[in-house]
Amino acid sequence: MSSPVRVTVTGAAGQIGYALLFRIASGQMFGPDTPVQLRLLEITPALGALEGVAMELDDCAFPLLAGIELTDSAETAFDGANLACLVGAKPRGPGMERADLLKDNGAIFTGQGRAIASSGADDIKVAVVGNPANTNALIASANADGVPLERFTAMVRLDENRAKTQLAQKAGVPVADVTNLAVWGNHSPTMVPDFDNARIGGTPLTDVITDRAWLEGEFLSTVQQRGKAIIDARGSSSAASAANALIDHVANWTGGKPTPEGDWVSMAIPSDGSYGVPEGIISGFPVTTDGAGSYEIVQGLQLTDFAQGKLEATIAELQEERTAVADML
Ligand code: NAD
Ligand code: LMR
Repeated sequence: MSSPVRVTVTGAAGQIGYALLFRIASGQMFGPDTPVQLRLLEITPALGALEGVAMELDDCAFPLLAGIELTDSAETAFDGANLACLVGAKPRGPGMERADLLKDNGAIFTGQGRAIASSGADDIKVAVVGNPANTNALIASANADGVPLERFTAMVRLDENRAKTQLAQKAGVPVADVTNLAVWGNHSPTMVPDFDNARIGGTPLTDVITDRAWLEGEFLSTVQQRGKAIIDARGSSSAASAANALIDHVANWTGGKPTPEGDWVSMAIPSDGSYGVPEGIISGFPVTTDGAGSYEIVQGLQLTDFAQGKLEATIAELQEERTAVADML
């Protein structure tokens, strides 16, 4: 057994928290040999509900769960944390876009960025789920003096998973056959699921699914609008699938599960200028990961004119979001 990983989850009494904590505590994020200590942050009025969640965690008798701490103080929550899962934020309701949450939710990430810098462990890594996730990650990073920029990531893995399933169903193959599917840009309706560079059973996807009108039309809009479709159907936003995607995101990044040889995964990360994505925004990219805390952008992929146009639009949206929160950076 290795020493425990200290994991902070914000918004832990919320919907995603309820779908996430039990999976972390059972070993699905860091593997069967790594104990975890959970540090759960909530706003004061939700602490009662959070106590109920903690009771349920206790009642699972998870062998890997090395302790639970509940708090409404960000400083206490991030104390010694190796991983910060920033989930706590308002979800959108019907008729809203994720960017409508910027002003309300952005403010949460200034204070949490500062607390991450002042009390997180030296190796702290951050995964943002709360929407609008890319720009919230940017806000947190800008307020976390001394924490290396590359430690701040946001989740586009749910979009990758959604895209893979749509493609597998269209091709009539098991979802595991769909590989090399990157989601570029923002976690918003402008996101770009890159079917041109994807593969099915090792073959270029576009040789298997030749219906380009479907790929550029129905497929794209289904993935881009999937969050809205779930809100319309459930009356509240995706929770179990979001928690599942966060398990995937962290497991590949730092949970001992490297990206399989020849494949890549999607993470929103601070741009280094690759593919013309300007530095200073956090964008979805195809990356390979070592499972030990490092990732690298996959270089040399060709984008079609169609994908390039979509990439430029999603980058423009991220730049607009950055401008809208300039006072928090
Ligand atoms: P929820 O309302 O069920 O839970 C959010 C929790 O955060 C609440 O318990 C609330 O009390 C808490 N909270 C609010 N402010 C806080 C603060 N300052 N500190 C700590 N906790 C705080 O919402 P949810 O369904 O769990 O969704 C959470 C966020 O995740 C939303 O912004 C949602 O839009 C987003 N989301 C992102 C993705 C993605 O793919 N990136 C997917 C699904 C949901
Ligand atoms: C999702 O993609 O399901 C989440 O970002 C929630 C939303 O607002 O769509």
